[in-house]
Amino acid sequence: MGHFGDYQNEIYLNGTRGVLPRWPVDFATLEARAAAALSPDVLNYVQGGCGDEHTQDENARAFRRWGMVPRMMVDCTARDLSIDLFGLKLPTPVFMAPIGVTGLATQDRHGDRAAARAAAMTGVPLVASTLSNDPLETVARDMGDTPGFFQLYTPKNPDLAASLVARAEAAGYKAIVVTLDTWVTGWRPRDLNTANFPQLRGAVLMNYFADPVFQRLLGKSPADAPAEAIGLWASLFGKVLTWDDIGWLRSLTRLPIVLKGICHPDDARRAVDAGIDGIYCSNHGGRQANGGIAAIDMLADVVAASGEVPVLFDSGVRSGSDVVKALAMGARAVGVGRPYFYGLAIGGAEGAVHVLKSILAEADLMMAVNGCPTIAALRAEGVRRTAG
Ligand code: GLV
Repeated sequence: MGHFGDYQNEIYLNGTRGVLPRWPVDFATLEARAAAALSPDVLNYVQGGCGDEHTQDENARAFRRWGMVPRMMVDCTARDLSIDLFGLKLPTPVFMAPIGVTGLATQDRHGDRAAARAAAMTGVPLVASTLSNDPLETVARDMGDTPGFFQLYTPKNPDLAASLVARAEAAGYKAIVVTLDTWVTGWRPRDLNTANFPQLRGAVLMNYFADPVFQRLLGKSPADAPAEAIGLWASLFGKVLTWDDIGWLRSLTRLPIVLKGICHPDDARRAVDAGIDGIYCSNHGGRQANGGIAAIDMLADVVAASGEVPVLFDSGVRSGSDVVKALAMGARAVGVGRPYFYGLAIGGAEGAVHVLKSILAEADLMMAVNGCPTIAALRAEGVRRTAG
């Protein structure tokens, strides 16, 4: 049986024929290559975060303060990284976190489709963002047999919200991931210094422009009145959700509902009590509030408060060892964000595939070497706080 770690054999064997990997396997080099490839406005938007980016940096740095003690004399020749999530059997515990400007990652501005093709090629699900340069139906088709999830930025207009959710359900998405922390944009100095907000320049709004309810509200074709269409989008973006809205959200779909942005155990408990199907622990990659606490440092409490309800995690994941630590802390599935975006930027779908395969290979080999052949074994071992 093949393992994700076999990817390193492929790389070393190619080396014996004088062929180096086309793209880097480590995050620092990947980011540097992407920085050279992306336009300054897209790079700033994606690489940057909120305030002085302390939280964003902490998200990644905090993983270094958690460690795992290796176990020996365990047969790890066969390893299983598959998970069950919302009744789906997924081959990996990794997913591509939603990124609203994925469309801008590639030169052709169809980065959402490239990410979907990477999902098809790897079996790693994509959480497709509401903010997209291609309609969610097209993105879903490009995912092939790999299940996808739809991230919802809930519009203020309930008919538009219902339409987006219905379209996602009809297109075959397997869950609705409702982002809670972005009804207003956080303070992002890099973007403010360059007065750059891609949506206000008409980027990544295709899910709205293609929507029949949006078109009805606009009263004309968005193509005929782009400035008005952008204005309408801005006026409709960002419904403030409260616990009173859970029943309404539930009424929109039969799909599992995941709440994204839950970091406090009391919020997790309340979501579980409300019958929510998945808790998504995340601080939006440090892009929304510069609150100072790394997301990974909040994960264990959220997992404990969520009981049997699966917890998804993202924010600060840069490597396979980060994935393994988050799993050991109890995450059911771990989201990768900026790394796959950078893979798209330097190599399109194949670049993202390489990034995902590298992260999965490192995760698999870390499990092999640490004596944890399964995710259950990882969870049983857990993590230890280190000096950092
Ligand atoms: C939107 O999700 C953003 O983080 O910019």
